[in-house]
Amino acid sequence: MKIGVFDSGVGGLTVLKALTKAYPHVDFVYLGDTARVPYGDKSAQTVIRYSLECAEFLMGEGIDLLVVACNTASSYALDVLKEILTIPVFGVLEPGVKRALQTTKNKRVGVIGTRATINSNSYKKLLETNGVEVFQKACPLFVPMVEEGILDGDIAKGVVAHYLKDIKDKNIDTLILGCTHYPLLKPIIEDFMGEGVNVVDSAECTAMEVASYIVGGGTSTLNLYFTDRSPGLDFLIELILEKPVDYQLLTLPCKV
Ligand code: DGL
Repeated sequence: MKIGVFDSGVGGLTVLKALTKAYPHVDFVYLGDTARVPYGDKSAQTVIRYSLECAEFLMGEGIDLLVVACNTASSYALDVLKEILTIPVFGVLEPGVKRALQTTKNKRVGVIGTRATINSNSYKKLLETNGVEVFQKACPLFVPMVEEGILDGDIAKGVVAHYLKDIKDKNIDTLILGCTHYPLLKPIIEDFMGEGVNVVDSAECTAMEVASYIVGGGTSTLNLYFTDRSPGLDFLIELILEKPVDYQLLTLPCKV
């Protein structure tokens, strides 16, 4: 069995890592669209177009199941991909929401993500239909901060406090990390939010969600593709996967 995973860049490797840990015998092919990252400040139309191109490439690799690791792409393109593709397609939103609904006691949940994800209200809608009050916050500096490798220390703590101070006052008991990069900041986010707040990492929940679709094994191959060798790419791959992994470069069709 071969699982395809795509993201706007390297952040989706947090999801890939959870998947490879959960299903070590399965084959994986990962595409990070580093040439066009970030998706988080693009329009819905552009995010959908890019997502279709990523999916088309992965379908050509013979995948049996697709995981859209990017929260922004999941927010805007998941329905289109589900409609077009003939294989099971998973996003990262529903698994995170499911976990949040299991953990919240006071039905007050926070969601943080890119501007595009927060503006789409995708998490909010899913949570509200389940009777939950939602407090959202876009945290645009988190992605570049992670990409700079700033995961702790005064700068990181200051930025976390800057974005999360309002949400902290809202008496939430659950906070969804609605962006691929945020699991890397989980320790300092948990620290800032305090013990009463359960921080939900969509990456782990998504890996569990696909469990019933895993049929047969594979040869444990892991093929990584990126659309640009950006300066920090090797550093970030090693930071997230905790080891250096080889990759190939490719160019996606760009029908502007
Ligand atoms: N992968 C994106 C997400 O999860 C974050 C980076 C970007 O803006 O493209 O929303």
